[in-house]
Amino acid sequence: MTHSERLKNRIAVVTGGAKGIGRAIAKRLAKEGAEVVIADILIDEAKKAASEIGARAYAEDVNIADQDSVDRLAEAINNRHGHFDILVNNAGILDANGFDDMTMERYLEVIAVNQHGAIRVTKTLLPLIRKGDQAKRIVNIASIMGVRGSRDSIPYSTAKGGVVNFTRALACDLASEGITVNAIGPGFIDTDMATLPDGSGHEHDTEWFKEIYIKHGRIPLRRAGKPDDIAGPAFFLCSDDSQYVTGQILLVDGGVSATF
Ligand SMILES: NC(=O)c1ccc[n+]([C@@H]2O[C@H](COP(=O)([O-])OP(=O)(O)OC[C@H]3O[C@@H](n4cnc5c(N)ncnc54)[C@H](O)[C@@H]3O)[C@@H](O)[C@H]2O)c1
Repeated sequence: MTHSERLKNRIAVVTGGAKGIGRAIAKRLAKEGAEVVIADILIDEAKKAASEIGARAYAEDVNIADQDSVDRLAEAINNRHGHFDILVNNAGILDANGFDDMTMERYLEVIAVNQHGAIRVTKTLLPLIRKGDQAKRIVNIASIMGVRGSRDSIPYSTAKGGVVNFTRALACDLASEGITVNAIGPGFIDTDMATLPDGSGHEHDTEWFKEIYIKHGRIPLRRAGKPDDIAGPAFFLCSDDSQYVTGQILLVDGGVSATF
């Protein structure tokens, strides 16, 4: 597929860009001409992803749950560029325990990364976005679990629900400055996050998943998603084509949320 240079002269920061969905988004934004900072806690994986993407990507070490670490990221971006244009809050972790097994410690850990992490990164980096002179975009990667209920998902769903309404409220706060804020709610996407808790393989390869979601069409498009399925919609929300779109939650789930 050929790409235009619709993000030429833009600088994008993608948290959690070392793997999975973030990596696919980073690759797509770079293909569209942006210079991409892959900001991840797995710095070796992030460097590998950057070198595979090419000259338009480089890696920065960050733990989004740690303010000092995010401050260092802001300093590094400021020293190198002085500003940037596009922030993709993608880094996240999964938790798949039932409520009875959930400890408050684990609950707070998941909230610290998935919800507070996105808010912390946005708050810390916003002054650098404000200094930009291109179309300014913030895209949060939430989840269908942020807008729907699902068993064994209290910390994760609660955090993603927080990201969903953070998106809407921040869009209202920043609209007058022309900064758009939107979220994507991916459905079942084939990444390391979809590995079963016992490590025995991917959720999408199990018989129950194939039976319910594929054979019986609980996913109307009858397949799990791929990271590239999220990269296109993310690019749209980062591009000039989405200039009149803000505060929206775009569910990219093969139609799961359209069924009952
Ligand atoms: N895979 C799915 O089915 C799915 C569905 C809905 C939403 N999502 C969301 O999409 C996003 C990406 O998930 P993925 O499936 O690509 O998962 P993944 O595990 O493949 O990638 C997550 C990335 O985030 C990074 N990360 C984790 N904690 C971090 C931290 N504290 N600081 C910095 N980086 C950190 C990891 O190192 C990794 O590179 C997440 O926010 C996830 O919740 C995924």
